[in-house]
Amino acid sequence: MSETLKRRIRTRRAKVGILGLGYVGLPLVVEFVRAGFDVTGFDVVASKVDALNRGRSYIPDVPSSAVRSALKRKRFRATSNFDLLAGMDAVSMCVPTPLSKTRDPDMSFVESASREVAARLHRDMIVVLESTTYPGTTEEVLRPLLEEGGLRVGKDVFLAFSPERVDPGNPVYGVRNTPKVIGGITEACTEMAALLYGSAVDRVIPVSSAAAAEMVKLLENTFRSVNIGLVNEVAMMCDRLKLDVWEVIEAASTKPFGYMKFTPGPGIGGHCIPIDPLYLSWKLKSLNYQARFIELADAVNSSMPDHVVEKVAHALNGRSKAVRGSRVLVLGVAYKRDIDDLRESPALEVIEGLRERGAKVRVCDPHVGSFRIGEESFTPVPLTPRELRAADAVVITTDHSDFDWNSVVRNSRLIVDTRNATAKVKGGKQHVVRL
Ligand SMILES: NC(=O)c1ccc[n+]([C@@H]2O[C@H](COP(=O)([O-])OP(=O)(O)OC[C@H]3O[C@@H](n4cnc5c(N)ncnc54)[C@H](O)[C@@H]3O)[C@@H](O)[C@H]2O)c1
Repeated sequence: MSETLKRRIRTRRAKVGILGLGYVGLPLVVEFVRAGFDVTGFDVVASKVDALNRGRSYIPDVPSSAVRSALKRKRFRATSNFDLLAGMDAVSMCVPTPLSKTRDPDMSFVESASREVAARLHRDMIVVLESTTYPGTTEEVLRPLLEEGGLRVGKDVFLAFSPERVDPGNPVYGVRNTPKVIGGITEACTEMAALLYGSAVDRVIPVSSAAAAEMVKLLENTFRSVNIGLVNEVAMMCDRLKLDVWEVIEAASTKPFGYMKFTPGPGIGGHCIPIDPLYLSWKLKSLNYQARFIELADAVNSSMPDHVVEKVAHALNGRSKAVRGSRVLVLGVAYKRDIDDLRESPALEVIEGLRERGAKVRVCDPHVGSFRIGEESFTPVPLTPRELRAADAVVITTDHSDFDWNSVVRNSRLIVDTRNATAKVKGGKQHVVRL
């Protein structure tokens, strides 16, 4: 195993390159800088590179002050010039892994980033993939690309997978104090990657292969998807049984062992939970195996926005109102509390469903700027008593902690609360319909 690279990592002289400066890549930049490395961030989007080089962060979990301090100490620069990869000793790839139109894995970002690295690969370099993907990607997609030039993985260069577990908006767990799972193509690769990441995070968890590390991430996210699917179905069952699902969940959660609390909602969103399990089921299909839990959870979770639209229609109907022409205020567009991420957000589908039925929809989300759904563009309005009073129905799709729930309950005529956000408001909630 390369003593040179080991020494460079131990003495912090190793140059670290991070490809993809998004929700995953930028926090990783900050941790490697904090650990004492010189870090170069690579991104294909010029506006992101410019913003960072001017000391401005666009990721809420990364304060601009952290970027400015790294720039000032000459520990960090951002670039779109991939030729600078040639000077890197370690490269972590944090590029998107979305679904294609047919809901199959879209590996184009991983492939193009890997090609950029492969073209500048040199002896004693370590490459780590962080993007969530199906088991086998690092071995079957990255390894052949990197070995095209003749260098051998495990001998001349090192290759590993280490899933990112970042939870945007989590005030307790960040990159540093979340244990980092690492699986290399060879033992030497695992060891080298563990040395690299062990110098930036509190704890590394080596596993026997890159594929095992890829599977760890998919187990974690599938676990969430399936349990959210289960509790969403329980919510629909309670609806029919005329039971309060939130009361049932709270009471079940008092069991000190053997139960873990999950809550229902308008569906799942973000770059991870709705997408990652489908990477796994896609891979299993190629092995002639149907991943039944994943597909069922996906079906249940995907049906939730329609269920919410149905609830709104039913609630308006109870007041002799049609959806068509009604003013509906949607509270919260981000896929979860206190973040600005709209990707796969179920609120978008709720808005679309209401618009299709002819509702006049306004949206309120202080974390989110203007956005489009198809041809239509929406600009969030401030949450004011006047806005609430003007709405025939208010739909709570995201429970941001800066929303004033007392005011929402006091000033609204009809509320469909999909997050149990109004639970703590005392009294006067006859007009609140819950999931
Ligand atoms: N966001 C999360 O909470 C989270 C958590 C864990 C894992 N992940 C996984 O991490 C990966 C990245 O997710 P993200 O949320 O950071 O995505 P993101 O879209 O926020 O960031 C990805 C960045 O990569 C850049 N990029 C695209 N192609 C590139 C290329 N060829 N070279 C360099 N940069 C390129 C994009 O411009 C973008 O800035 C995905 O696989 C995702 O599933 C995300």
